[in-house]
Amino acid sequence: MQADGSVAAVSGDHSLNLGQYSRAAIERAGPLATGLPLASLAGRSIVARQVHVLVRRLAWHGLLDYRLFSPRDAQDMVVIEPQVAEYWPEPAKLSNGDILVLSRFAYLRRRGNEMVLESPRAGALFRIGDPAIAATLASLSRPQKISNLRRRAAALDIELLGLLLDGGMLIKLDPKHGDGLRVNEGDGNLVLWDFHDLVFHTRSTEGRHSEPVGGAYAYAAAVPSLPALRPSWTGKSVSLDKFVSAAPASPFTRLLHARHSTRDFDDRNPVTLPELAQFLGTTARVLSEWKSGDDVGGGGEVTYTSRPYPAAGSAYELELYLAVSNCEGLARGFYHYDAGRHALVSLDASPEQIRALLATAEFAMDASGPPQILITIAARFGRIAWKYSSIAYSLVLKDVGCMIQTFYLTAADMSLGGCAIGTSNIDLFARMTGLELHVEGPVGQFALGRSAQRPIPG
Ligand SMILES: Cc1cc2nc3c(=O)[nH]c(=O)nc-3n(C[C@H](O)[C@H](O)[C@H](O)COP(=O)(O)O)c2cc1C
Repeated sequence: MQADGSVAAVSGDHSLNLGQYSRAAIERAGPLATGLPLASLAGRSIVARQVHVLVRRLAWHGLLDYRLFSPRDAQDMVVIEPQVAEYWPEPAKLSNGDILVLSRFAYLRRRGNEMVLESPRAGALFRIGDPAIAATLASLSRPQKISNLRRRAAALDIELLGLLLDGGMLIKLDPKHGDGLRVNEGDGNLVLWDFHDLVFHTRSTEGRHSEPVGGAYAYAAAVPSLPALRPSWTGKSVSLDKFVSAAPASPFTRLLHARHSTRDFDDRNPVTLPELAQFLGTTARVLSEWKSGDDVGGGGEVTYTSRPYPAAGSAYELELYLAVSNCEGLARGFYHYDAGRHALVSLDASPEQIRALLATAEFAMDASGPPQILITIAARFGRIAWKYSSIAYSLVLKDVGCMIQTFYLTAADMSLGGCAIGTSNIDLFARMTGLELHVEGPVGQFALGRSAQRPIPG
């Protein structure tokens, strides 16, 4: 309760205002710290409605866990921990004839001294408190009719199954078609994802889990930093110093050594549209298109392109999306760079989403303002996974590295400033584009603009 009578959720030096409530509502919501029965939100009384609003607001910000408590065993059977902000438990309706199977993306693992059920597809993780539930989950590794499950597992909680289905841990199968294997779960784009790749993608970005992201120094107290230089091996060394040429460095060497990261930009003198066009044309434009057989004997032809940077298998799965904050000659907005047509196409992202995207970049760079242009590098995962399966995601990240260095060198050559950004929010991007996260999503970011510092001559 704040001095002005409003209620706030406070954590460290963060405070989130949740609105005004009557004293009776606050008293009824009191047990939230340990467990407030859902029944407290039911009913039409003013108090119940206020508690409902408070609880929904907490849920909206991802501040609630949901306990399924067994009074008989006096223990939590399951605690649901939301991983996305909007999660709200909505058990799917099930009947005896329904056939369920565990999603191929769901996995049980030890976290601390607990067992958790997770999935990169799920908006929540399930902390499993009762080993009998883990046994039921194990039996769901093959399709099961609810009636069979009921017969075998006496303590089966049908509402829990409904929550697991709603949360994406289970999938419901069509009784006529479907053995529950890969092609039964999701569209063609999902079929192409290997388990480890989707886990890596969702856990190494922001938006689909609730762990801290970025320079958190999580185990700095337990493990010291490795030295900047690797200790030398003890074998005979061959010095290369004597081969250093006395000739002046080539323009390319000078460019390579001039490259550096720029995080603060001169907003009175922003990058211009012709400069942006030159930057994109130099780094990412399609140079030629060609076709080839599909290598698998199917007789199909696969289309390919050539572009200025190298890419695994010539797949060129990377796409560029530009959040434009300050570019002379180009309206503020969110654009896709159509590399084939060398054109920018405007997308319908909201001003709040664009602001949020730019703010995350400003935060990641610890900069004094948003970048003039924020380039999000997104991958069309299916384009590369179609051929490479288990190494697809690692190839995507290597391709991003090639592209980022190309960006840095071009920015340096054009006397512009740029900075790679290691984090991206895959949920925000999905909302801005309307694309599902497994179809196309961010894998890298690069801030671009005119540096606030004068370029160093030479
Ligand atoms: C993959 C990658 C991710 C990076 N992420 C960030 C970032 O999130 N924030 C930031 O300020 N700099 C980021 N940087 C920039 C590095 O901090 C920078 O390259 C490094 O400190 C060396 O400095 P220099 O680029 O000026 O030579 C990133 C660089 C790379 C290559």
